[in-house]
Amino acid sequence: MSQSIFRKFRRGRAATTPRNEVGMARTKQVVLRIKRQSNPREAARWEEFALPWRPSLNVIICLRDIAENPVTRDGKRTTPVSYDSNCLEEVCGSCAMLINGKARMACSALVDQLDQPIRIEPMSKFPVVRDLSVDRQFMFESLKRVKAWIPIDGSYDLGEGPRVAPETQEKAYPLSRCISCGNCLEVCPQVNEHSDFMGAAIFSQVRLFNMHPTGGMHAKERLQAAMGHGGIEDCANAQNCVKACPKEIPLTESLAEINRQAWKQALLGWLIG
Ligand code: FES
Repeated sequence: MSQSIFRKFRRGRAATTPRNEVGMARTKQVVLRIKRQSNPREAARWEEFALPWRPSLNVIICLRDIAENPVTRDGKRTTPVSYDSNCLEEVCGSCAMLINGKARMACSALVDQLDQPIRIEPMSKFPVVRDLSVDRQFMFESLKRVKAWIPIDGSYDLGEGPRVAPETQEKAYPLSRCISCGNCLEVCPQVNEHSDFMGAAIFSQVRLFNMHPTGGMHAKERLQAAMGHGGIEDCANAQNCVKACPKEIPLTESLAEINRQAWKQALLGWLIG
């Protein structure tokens, strides 16, 4: 009895919902305004595209559709828009861009939740490679500067690592979710052409690796780098970073913690000499 009701319910849905969606897809359009730039030296220009709407469309799928058929809204053939993406599930961090003026991940930006025309621009704090693709090398160099890793010696089996207390694991896990997208640098007023401020993501990684029992062995070197040029003292506490982080990492807590650790190390160095 209950199974037949279930079948009837499914038949009902199958008969109505998709037909509605097909009807909407025939009439509704998605309009995108995209900032284009063939290379870093060329002046930027805008192009507008119109695509047929379909359910659950996100910005990356729109860009892929444009790449398949690069024709502008007024019917001119153009080149495919360049952009970076990989995982399509907010894990790799490569698809960060400005969507309607906001730094966010294109693979999780649903078209139905955006005002149209959807304005898409490359991130402004990183050099443009082409169109929406930017060079985030600065961030990766900063991660190298602060040794954002746990060094493991030798090529032989080192056995089990040290045990990590559950309370430490709970604090570390949110920090380990960083995808190096660069959104926190994009929204930070301290990251600009006059400063080399490394940005919140970097200090959060310093905190993560310093709290690990093995990583902590290099805490001093990490803090030394965090106190150097472009370091923690350049943070002006604007707190935009924490709002822009797609993984909800407690970035302001990390900045405060690294500031505290840096002061402690500096003070001890001064007292002990
Ligand atoms: S494609 Fe990987 S985060 Fe968007």
